[in-house]
Amino acid sequence: MPEGAEGEARDGELLHLVLDYVGKIAGERGADAQLLLMADMARGLLACDRCSLWIADGDELRTRVAHDVDELRIPLRSGVAGKCFERGKPIVANDPAACPWFNPEVDRKTGYETRNILAVPIFGSAGNAIGVYQAINKREGEFGGHDLRLLMMVAAYSGKSLENARLLEEVEQTQNELVHLLGEAGEVRSRETGNHVKRVGELCYILAREMGLPPRDCDLIRLTAPLHDMGKLGVRDTVLNSPNPLSPEEYEEMKLHTQIGERFLARSDRRVLRVAAQIAGCHHEKWDGSGYPNGLSGEEIPLFARICALADVYDALVNDRCYKKGWPQERVEALFRAESGRHFDPKVVEAYFRCKEEFPRVSRELLDG
Ligand SMILES: [Fe+2]
Ligand SMILES: [Fe+2]
Repeated sequence: MPEGAEGEARDGELLHLVLDYVGKIAGERGADAQLLLMADMARGLLACDRCSLWIADGDELRTRVAHDVDELRIPLRSGVAGKCFERGKPIVANDPAACPWFNPEVDRKTGYETRNILAVPIFGSAGNAIGVYQAINKREGEFGGHDLRLLMMVAAYSGKSLENARLLEEVEQTQNELVHLLGEAGEVRSRETGNHVKRVGELCYILAREMGLPPRDCDLIRLTAPLHDMGKLGVRDTVLNSPNPLSPEEYEEMKLHTQIGERFLARSDRRVLRVAAQIAGCHHEKWDGSGYPNGLSGEEIPLFARICALADVYDALVNDRCYKKGWPQERVEALFRAESGRHFDPKVVEAYFRCKEEFPRVSRELLDG
């Protein structure tokens, strides 16, 4: 085949590969999954052994994604990646031993042999370097200008995703903290203390995962379950913290916390708060229809609320309160068996018994302050 035709065929292959990956990347929502696909694309385009994406994190560079190795951390200006980051310029090291910045220590530790390296900086929208893209061991021959251009294209593409991911993480973390603060505001006035709302979120997450819910839903219930009792903000102190058993009237007032929370949260159109509203409104409904406020039964009760019902009861019973000692897990389990199909959705109870070993860990890690 004449050289020009061969080159065109190779370009056609590369284009096909890029388009294939662009389609896959567009279908992924998670930043890490997207960045890993980009690393796969770079490895395919450059026909090399490994690619890694390093991001600046304080005074270190750490791998955000990397083929075949666990997370690596290096001082910000060390090694080929560090030098590339510091100078904001690509580095081609086809003979690493002759490269003053190559650190052979990593190969010695991992038993891997680095034959050649190509590193290009990743720039943020403000024009500053935010990380480094590195390709290692071209399968045939050495890294050249064509490889450099391809890797710069992937680095530019990844830079955008990285910045978006960082912004999204920031927004999500802010959202999570606000939700927890809101949930705690509901608890702080009652005798449920400390980390109860966070623990209920974690326990719901474990149950949802065990029941095979999609990862997005597992994250969503972890975020929203801590708001289940925020309607307690609207219940009078004398009722909320009554040292005596509640009178029938007081009990009716206490029950209102479900509707108060639901109404408050449902004022928003945001999906997160709508789901939280459902949980707040229905976490005291019971599978057999004997719960409150609406006497819903079975699958009329939203699934998230059925999960939260069990997690909430578990956490309230196993932990000490100023008015009672915590129950041993076995005693709570006897209650779950007896109440399966009555208070609780039998499928949630079954899920609990499959993953119950994970529950005490949550209590240990999120102790009451
Ligand atoms: Fe409640
Ligand atoms: Fe609760």
